[in-house]
Amino acid sequence: MKTAELYMSLFEECRGEYEKAVRAGRRNEAHALALRCASILLNLAGKNPRMAELYMARAEEWERKAEELEKKPEVEKRETLPAGKGSTPTSTNPYLEYVEGLIARSTVTWKDIGGLEEVKKLIARNVALALAEKPAPIKPWKGILLFGPPGTGKTLLASAAAGSLNATFFSVKASDVLSKYYGESSKIVSALYALAREKAPSIVFIDEIDALTVKREGAHEATRRTLATLLSELDGFKGQGDVPVLTLASTNTPWDLDEAVLSRFPLRVYVPLPDKEATKEIIKTNTRGLDISRLDLDAIAEESVRRLYSGREIASLCNLAIHNMLDEMNPELSDLDAISKSERLKLKVRPLEMGDFEEAFKKIKSPLTRKDIERYEKWAEEFGA
Ligand SMILES: Nc1ncnc2c1ncn2[C@@H]1O[C@H](COP(=O)(O)OP(=O)(O)OP(=O)(O)O)[C@@H](O)[C@H]1O
Ligand SMILES: [Mg+2]
Repeated sequence: MKTAELYMSLFEECRGEYEKAVRAGRRNEAHALALRCASILLNLAGKNPRMAELYMARAEEWERKAEELEKKPEVEKRETLPAGKGSTPTSTNPYLEYVEGLIARSTVTWKDIGGLEEVKKLIARNVALALAEKPAPIKPWKGILLFGPPGTGKTLLASAAAGSLNATFFSVKASDVLSKYYGESSKIVSALYALAREKAPSIVFIDEIDALTVKREGAHEATRRTLATLLSELDGFKGQGDVPVLTLASTNTPWDLDEAVLSRFPLRVYVPLPDKEATKEIIKTNTRGLDISRLDLDAIAEESVRRLYSGREIASLCNLAIHNMLDEMNPELSDLDAISKSERLKLKVRPLEMGDFEEAFKKIKSPLTRKDIERYEKWAEEFGA
């Protein structure tokens, strides 16, 4: 049973990553993640003969998702480029081509994010200021750092900021650039900012910026070079200081960041674990469309807070509870023959019950301890905005 739980949490994690990739328009990554989800489910089927058919059916679902992604023509990505100069077929610069692929279209809105009211306002205000047309003496922040435990909505916030304004959104994971384009990552950073300026107003979102630290031992030459390039781009030398390009960065290990990086991000926003009210909001967003009138939301939220759940765990909790309900209402889902015979399944649903959540709670564990939270709070007190 232990291994099954492990696979289940692996699956949940992978599904979350998949959804992120889809939202950010990273089709290739989403495709790979969908296949990974399918393979985890197949593994689960192998480990759990009683539920094998159900898991296999779900694995097939994921394989279909992957297939559909494959069928989508590459042009889609181009369509997300804002019209105008620069959206003509790209030059032969391979770095420029790569960074064009980092342009994402965000459909996330502020409403999709439960709780975090103050944080949302702070970010919305400063992003709007940074990208506005303004008289010279007004100097908005050029960099905003979001920090906090994993799964608290940092990436969601950046996506919502981009979705709310008509800005070009570049989304890049520092660790990806470093690992996939090792020797060339510094050139990619230059190309990234060149394109961001060309397509301004732009938001550059650097996820996991802690990967770019040189504070830890054994930082490599390429990392140093990349970091140096990023710092000079953030300073906006070369007379390009007025081009509205805002850099949002995110990390869950802020204490690893170098002084040099921190100084470029004077506005540092703590994104904490959700409190009870925020948890209720997140449950509502994640059960939209289903009847939740029989749930004691206060009790569920209190238990989630007690267990140190982040938004990501709450989303998984809801998803598991929904699956518990679906499994009960649609026993034919575990009958492979029935599934392959029927044309298209019509799922039966019933209102969600406390029992669905009680089962789900057993399977979801927060990776955090109180001590971890204290560390974030202390850092926020000392260095936060
Ligand atoms: N405040 C929230 N409202 C609604 N959903 C949330 C919220 N916070 C987290 N989630 C859920 O958790 C998932 C993960 O959130 P997100 O990717 O933004 O976390 P993160 O802070 O960037 O995590 P990491 O530090 O691991 O990158 C989201 O896709 C969403 O389903
Ligand atoms: Mg993130």
